[in-house]
Amino acid sequence: MEIFIDSANPDEIRRWLEYGVVDGVTTNPTIMLKDEAYDMQERAKEIAALIYPRPVSVEVTTNHIEQMIDEARGLASWAPNIVVKIPVVNEYGEPCLGVVRTLVEEGIKINMTACLSFGQVVLGAKAGATYISIFAGRMTDEGHDATKLIRDAAEWLAGWEYHSKIIVGSIREVTNIQDAALAGAHVITVPPQFMGKLIDHHYSRATVQQFNADAQKALAKMGELKAGAESLVGARNPNG
Ligand code: E4P
Repeated sequence: MEIFIDSANPDEIRRWLEYGVVDGVTTNPTIMLKDEAYDMQERAKEIAALIYPRPVSVEVTTNHIEQMIDEARGLASWAPNIVVKIPVVNEYGEPCLGVVRTLVEEGIKINMTACLSFGQVVLGAKAGATYISIFAGRMTDEGHDATKLIRDAAEWLAGWEYHSKIIVGSIREVTNIQDAALAGAHVITVPPQFMGKLIDHHYSRATVQQFNADAQKALAKMGELKAGAESLVGARNPNG
């Protein structure tokens, strides 16, 4: 299973990259705005260079099907490891599958995004998407079972030997990450604040604190014993 960082913050991406646990990055226009990447091209190029050869997903910003193709070509030209995010449908519910198919045929890697149903996964795989993003948090926001969809989708893709990978995004809590991992997600894209929650634990800290304190006590004890032995030797041989 791969872990992507769901962020456009280069400092956070670099931090987790240096720990050796990052396989890629995902962004979207909302994340770009939140991370003050007002010049999307500049930030996308910076992240692409930072994580190369790992992939970074960058999303189209138009709602028009024809314009998506041109915009996607432009995004893909910014760096060799850019994956273009195309929504599964536009704001009017028009399928973007033709956009996916056209770009895939040109060799551009596509992350078909904003998916919340099994049908969307099936059609995205058939259109040739490299990645299919399932928005787990947005599903649970509406009372749907994201874990079941992730499991069903992973099994269906494997059963029919499709190569599309499921990215589980829209993480709301640590349990979403655990559930997605155990349900067979190929990739989970994790906001940086949840990476911190995954690794830290108050009892781990207390355990380390206990070990460090006991190591200090042992060192002090060893010092005392050594000093005692030396003074004994000194008493037996008063002339050195
Ligand atoms: C990732 O690819 C998605 O764009 C992101 O996780 C969406 O998260 P949200 O539902 O919190 O906006």
